[in-house]
Amino acid sequence: MTLRVLYVCTEVFPLLKTGGLADVSAGLPPALTAMGSDVRLLLPAFPGVVAGVTPEGPPLPLPAGGGPGLPSGVGPQTASAQGPAPWLQAGRITASGVPVWLLHAPGLYEHGGNPYLDEHGQPWPDSAEQFAWLGWAAALLGTGLHAAWVPDVVHGHDWHTGLAFAYLHELSRTAVHRPARVFTVHNLAYQGVFNAELRPRLGLPDGLFHWQGLEFHGQISFMKAALTYSDAITTVSPTYAREITGAEQGCGLEGVLLQRQAQLHGILNGVDDTVWNPQTDPLVQPGFTARNLKGKAQAKARLQQRMGLEPRHEALLFSVVSRLTEQKGLHLLPAAVDELVRRGGQLAVLGSGDAAIEQALRDCALRHPGQVALTVGYDEALAHGIIAGADVILLPSRFEPCGLTQLYGLRYGTLPLVRAVGGLADTVVDCSLENLDDGSASGFVFDELDVNNLKVAMRRAFALQRRPADWRAVQRHAMSLRFSWARAAAEYLRVYASVMPATPLV
Ligand code: ADP
Ligand code: GLC
Repeated sequence: MTLRVLYVCTEVFPLLKTGGLADVSAGLPPALTAMGSDVRLLLPAFPGVVAGVTPEGPPLPLPAGGGPGLPSGVGPQTASAQGPAPWLQAGRITASGVPVWLLHAPGLYEHGGNPYLDEHGQPWPDSAEQFAWLGWAAALLGTGLHAAWVPDVVHGHDWHTGLAFAYLHELSRTAVHRPARVFTVHNLAYQGVFNAELRPRLGLPDGLFHWQGLEFHGQISFMKAALTYSDAITTVSPTYAREITGAEQGCGLEGVLLQRQAQLHGILNGVDDTVWNPQTDPLVQPGFTARNLKGKAQAKARLQQRMGLEPRHEALLFSVVSRLTEQKGLHLLPAAVDELVRRGGQLAVLGSGDAAIEQALRDCALRHPGQVALTVGYDEALAHGIIAGADVILLPSRFEPCGLTQLYGLRYGTLPLVRAVGGLADTVVDCSLENLDDGSASGFVFDELDVNNLKVAMRRAFALQRRPADWRAVQRHAMSLRFSWARAAAEYLRVYASVMPATPLV
């Protein structure tokens, strides 16, 4: 029997992307499919997503909460008095052929731009309803709304899908079909917490609103709903899976996670070889390999030119490709830049987000013209150009569930300089003498989140640069590492199996 997986998420590369979640939604489903599963994505019909999907078949109306045959008081009420009710449209991602359901809900998903934040960086005012409907659609599909395709597993990602688990909990009391429920935490810091008064509107019965349910300090928590009502919880690295059961990284939910520790699994993300491969990357030509790095030297020269950096091939070129937020620890960077430049290094930054971090980095660029460059914004081609052309990629993160750019850096021989936290601790090995000696070194790692530790790690990078043979050896080792989606998919299949032991996996 083929395992059917409903994969519920809010972004997918290249249609809509704000961060690593989109890369995961593009990489993991095909890997599960390659192992014999039948995977369909469910996404809100944001304009970017609609544009990249070819519809197939007639629309499927989505009953509101309390509709015919449904328990009363469960599920969101009609989104608006006027206009058509929400519906699902089946289709395929035009470029990849991956099957999807798109959730259309008039008025909820049509705004362009960032799917979560308005132009002032504030959450869209109807966030709770937007994602309640997503959860509701998942719960209805999961319990057999479309008889021709009933999933064995509903697999939701991040808080936006959290209410799916609460609704499934309620619907499962009477539904004939009860799918296994798996939830993946990509980032515990974003939780979807809303005013308790929304309960009737979202169709969340009182029986769910208590400290062992989805109530969180008197409010509704989508994240807690998922953590409480899923059969298994995964997160995107083994270290983060441990960290979130403690107060420092648990974001107030450590108690819930500790209680569910037996069902909590850390599965590292992979790298999509069709997008991030230095030999075949269409955005980085000519390509390169560990044995022939000529293309990398050219990528560095191109990058220096493109970002207005002096064309010094010997300059150790540090880089950042990131959301500029507290999470990424980039508030430390400005205080380390003068020393970085004094030692002969350069810095190329691509990112956007926190205005204060942006401004501090802009000041650095003004202070060091030709040595420090900042591009504010989101630019896929430049991201590839930086990851290919730089010598070092910086992730001094405060916390990092997995992190993908350090994995891309490793693949392109751009050594990651990271803080030992979350997925960074699981994927990068420091260039200490003993690690150099046994050939396991792949980057530069520091522990405490302060600027002196960051500077010391940078000094280690300069020191390694002065030992070119060692640098090459570390680079070769980094480029030989493989974080494959096939390995991750096999681990997810084991988690699915653990919560539906009777079902053979093909
Ligand atoms: P997070 O999801 O926390 O932002 P990840 O490292 O998991 O961090 O994923 C970030 C993804 O977003 C990577 O694919 C990275 O290349 C991409 N990215 C981040 N910032 C930018 C940017 N300014 N322009 C283009 N791509 C970016
Ligand atoms: C989140 C995390 C990041 C992770 C990504 C994909 O955005 O911040 O560390 O790599 O999700 O799982």
